[in-house]
Amino acid sequence: MTSRFTDRTALVTGAGSGIGRAVALAFAAEGANVVVAGRRREPLDETVALIEAAGGKALAVTADVARAADVQTVVDAAVERFGSLDVAVNNAGVFRGGEPLADLAEDDWRTQLDINVTGVFLALRAEVRQMRSQPSGGAIVNIASTFGMHKRQPGATAYAATKAAVSVLTRGAALDHIAEGVRINAVSPGATDTQMSLQPGETEAGRAERMKSEVPLGRVAAVEEVAAAVLYLASDDAASVVGTELVVDSGQTA
Ligand SMILES: NC(=O)c1ccc[n+]([C@@H]2O[C@H](COP(=O)([O-])OP(=O)(O)OC[C@H]3O[C@@H](n4cnc5c(N)ncnc54)[C@H](OP(=O)(O)O)[C@@H]3O)[C@@H](O)[C@H]2O)c1
Repeated sequence: MTSRFTDRTALVTGAGSGIGRAVALAFAAEGANVVVAGRRREPLDETVALIEAAGGKALAVTADVARAADVQTVVDAAVERFGSLDVAVNNAGVFRGGEPLADLAEDDWRTQLDINVTGVFLALRAEVRQMRSQPSGGAIVNIASTFGMHKRQPGATAYAATKAAVSVLTRGAALDHIAEGVRINAVSPGATDTQMSLQPGETEAGRAERMKSEVPLGRVAAVEEVAAAVLYLASDDAASVVGTELVVDSGQTA
């Protein structure tokens, strides 16, 4: 097994489920100490248990990424427990909507902005401040989406606006901080095998049938496939990759 992250500390937000959990497990499998963050304790503890059962080291910290103090607590906990913050993956995100924009509740608009945009800004800010203070710097990967810069879809306009913002935050922040030793990129998944890609009332079998016509590859991406892209961008293999977005979407935006 390769161990690209031995003795490095990786922080993953939204790591109690879906893509975030897969990313956390993948970092641990490659030697990283992993700090997992999210609002609910129980799923984070499950992620830690999975990592520890496989012989890895992990720490769960409950945090709402929309709150600056919470995000700072996570970064501080990573440094206190493991000595540095080398990698951060800003994955926490939510989808609210399904209806046309004019029918979207203001609360749903604000929630998505708070978590998907302000949450990424607050996390980036705290992470960069820590990483630029370290001689070894660090690498950050934001999880954007093909719904955003790459593609729009009826009923997902507000979500797409927040994810386009993540793409722009990624590129701008990458330029702002690369000279300080902090390398920032994004992964933009398309439909991926989590709850988020299920339409209301849809079963996994129903989604599989829908994917045959909607997606050139004919299926959703596995969470492990998205994680592999994240680990590449966070690794030294990508040392000269700065401010880019790796699209993992089974060909949907080809
Ligand atoms: N699945 C897809 O098809 C797809 C496609 C493109 C992009 N994405 C993006 O991929 C990321 C992960 O999504 P997923 O599909 O893995 O969905 P998921 O299973 O719902 O994961 C989202 C995670 O984010 C956490 N979270 C939500 N709000 C948070 C907050 N305010 N503070 C901290 N953590 C928070 C959730 O945990 P708590 O509720 O416990 O906080 C949850 O563990 C999201 O950014 C999503 O937009 C997904």
